[in-house]
Amino acid sequence: MFEPKISAANATATPDWQRYLVAQDWHRFTQADHRTWDRLNERQVRLLDGRIVSPFLAGWKRLGLYEPGIPELERLSDRLEAATGWRCVSVAGIVPDAEFFAMLSDKRFPVGNFIRDGRHLDYLEEPDCFHDIFGHVPLIAYQPMARLMEAMGNLGMAACAAGHGDIISRLYWYTVEFGLVRERGQTRILGAGLASSFGEARRSLEDDVPRPLFTVEEAAATPYENDHFQPMYFVSSALDDVAAELEALDPDALSRLAAYRPIKKPAAAAPSDSTNDSAT
Ligand SMILES: [Fe+2]
Repeated sequence: MFEPKISAANATATPDWQRYLVAQDWHRFTQADHRTWDRLNERQVRLLDGRIVSPFLAGWKRLGLYEPGIPELERLSDRLEAATGWRCVSVAGIVPDAEFFAMLSDKRFPVGNFIRDGRHLDYLEEPDCFHDIFGHVPLIAYQPMARLMEAMGNLGMAACAAGHGDIISRLYWYTVEFGLVRERGQTRILGAGLASSFGEARRSLEDDVPRPLFTVEEAAATPYENDHFQPMYFVSSALDDVAAELEALDPDALSRLAAYRPIKKPAAAAPSDSTNDSAT
């Protein structure tokens, strides 16, 4: 089990995110690592067809993620930058909140420089490059989502500085990581934690779990736990709408949301199989 990248608040005045960067060192990946990527990529694309918001698969194609093997970040970043101005950066693991939000604010998305053990495809101790690239990056190639991510970065930095980092972490969690969204009359996957998870992608759409309508106020006041499948999933009315709504939040909204208390208790833990592939 692992902590999310945006867990406990740890703000600094000027977050120096660059000190968390490491070389991807792509040539270090073995043939077995690349085969693990290929198996995950193929399995997940097949599963997501008809279950994920349309811009995701459009981004997956635009970024060339159908190509075999773990992507080289510089090449992937060149394609992503041409789409939305974002680039991926390589990190060794979890980045503290303030620096994580600062990365987003500068249109940089951190990608773990490792991949899971291919003998246990569904087990993750912390987010790996499959979660980070496959789960997140296709939608960052979609302009409304890219703007939402940048807004989360700006708000996250302000929130951490004001001692409200948990509020932005929750909004991020219930949209970017584990959100669902309506599209053409269907409920579809939005979040990267769902998009990159074989078990939870199905569960989020098909199991008997609560799927309340997403509102900023409710999501901001609902704690989450990251060590098991989620017990509920917020559903946004439309991807472009939730992106615009989150982009429009400002520091005044943070104060308003901080006052929207008491915070609820976490929902009851949901059973999961012996693995945990929920990830941030
Ligand atoms: Fe993530």
